[in-house]
Amino acid sequence: MAENFASKQAEAVLGHGDQDRATHTDISNPDREGGRYADESGEKMKALAWMGKNDVRVVETSKPKIVDDHDAIVKVTGTTVCGSDVHLMHGVILQIEKGDILGHEFCGVVEAVGPAVKNLKPGERVVNSFVVSCGECKYCKQKLTTACEKTNASRLHEQLYGSRMGGIFGYSHFTGGYAGGQAEYVRVPLADNNLMKLPHSIPDEKGLYLADVLPTSYHSVSYTGVNKDDTVAIWGLGPIGMMACFWAFLKGAKRVIGIDNNWRTDYAKSKIDRLETINYTTLGEGETVPRKIHEMVPGGVDVSIDATGGEYAKGFMHKLELKIGAEQDTSEMINECLMSTRKFGTVGIIGDYVGFTNHFNVGSLMERGIKLIGCGQSPVHKYWQELLEMVEHGTVDPTIMLTHRFQLDDIAKAYHLQEKRESGLVKCFVETRFSPRRTEGTPELTRL
Ligand SMILES: NC(=O)c1ccc[n+]([C@@H]2O[C@H](COP(=O)([O-])OP(=O)(O)OC[C@H]3O[C@@H](n4cnc5c(N)ncnc54)[C@H](O)[C@@H]3O)[C@@H](O)[C@H]2O)c1
Ligand SMILES: [Zn+2]
Ligand SMILES: [Zn+2]
Repeated sequence: MAENFASKQAEAVLGHGDQDRATHTDISNPDREGGRYADESGEKMKALAWMGKNDVRVVETSKPKIVDDHDAIVKVTGTTVCGSDVHLMHGVILQIEKGDILGHEFCGVVEAVGPAVKNLKPGERVVNSFVVSCGECKYCKQKLTTACEKTNASRLHEQLYGSRMGGIFGYSHFTGGYAGGQAEYVRVPLADNNLMKLPHSIPDEKGLYLADVLPTSYHSVSYTGVNKDDTVAIWGLGPIGMMACFWAFLKGAKRVIGIDNNWRTDYAKSKIDRLETINYTTLGEGETVPRKIHEMVPGGVDVSIDATGGEYAKGFMHKLELKIGAEQDTSEMINECLMSTRKFGTVGIIGDYVGFTNHFNVGSLMERGIKLIGCGQSPVHKYWQELLEMVEHGTVDPTIMLTHRFQLDDIAKAYHLQEKRESGLVKCFVETRFSPRRTEGTPELTRL
């Protein structure tokens, strides 16, 4: 949090670099700047806002208006909570501000479009990409849309990482300051690029996950190059890790091992045939995850993927170092990945890491010729169409990770369940007052 405060100071000094933006950034709530971005109708809506460290709340705010000609307003019929939202709640993501509306995954119905929107009409069902892409910069042209150069004005991003990445809905001013979709309405900038139409055959309870979980988990195995007959180990069996296990098998992996520290190992195994798991809390004295993996796959696995996140320190030293700000991320899971991978194998990091880490086993990486791949924020657009078709044809059923249905009114409590990984929650679907009736076969509503 001290870092978050410092990041605001730094941005003030560096200046906000939004000269070359393709859209208005940093409209994280329609009521910002005295209601400047509120719809003229005066209509109010409910939305989940960040109010301080560990404090997210459903608040009443104004319905957003069209700000740029390329905008659309979407009436939200489904949203969810992501593992990344928990990092935001904890305040570990820089440049989050009180009142920012969160949520980067949503589906709904187009309510209104600006005059420059070509491919969308009011009434059409859509899902967003969590990325805000301009569609025209050199990265967007290659569909590496999270690297967009025109949708994020954070100079701090540039200073810390070397260059700026693109915008993300509902994910702090570090990634553009866009209001998110854990709300009844949301403004979608550059709507032709950032919304995909959903066919009738795909209900909200499946289509919603095209916003993030499906493209992110798919990207993690594609980009690390999981191949036929590979052995693969995946750390973290949240929605991202669990679906990455699914995709690894689809790519032809012969063995996939999922690692976690709780009941999610059993849950994932019950949904994915042939998955092997390690719940490391059950390991004996002196046993470690890498040792266990070498026992299961002598020599180590071909590919390891870290789908946990840098804030989840395991040992005392890293817990302390994180707490006092001596590092921003633990290196423990990445070190485990390195040591569990065969010589000249590959490690991919898809879980979120934000800054510097200590005690990184660079020796294992260098000496054993491991390729370490940062998977980046997933370039959703690269995979969108292919994944839509896979959902439509039943090649993948995203509801294997869907365990709960909540109401928007209860979403703050859902954050805390997600944080503690309690009550059998893997992934939720959050309905709003605009949602159609629940699709048969998906979880019934739970009130919290
Ligand atoms: N790169 C991207 O584009 C992108 C997109 C979405 C999410 N993410 C990130 O991916 C990660 C996973 O997302 P999610 O929604 O599945 O989150 P999640 O919090 O539901 O899942 C993380 C899992 O990791 C497990 N875990 C924690 N420490 C572990 C350890 N030492 N070893 C093994 N498992 C451990 C947790 O028990 C949990 O089940 C998060 O960090 C999230 O922010 C990245
Ligand atoms: Zn997400
Ligand atoms: Zn771009």
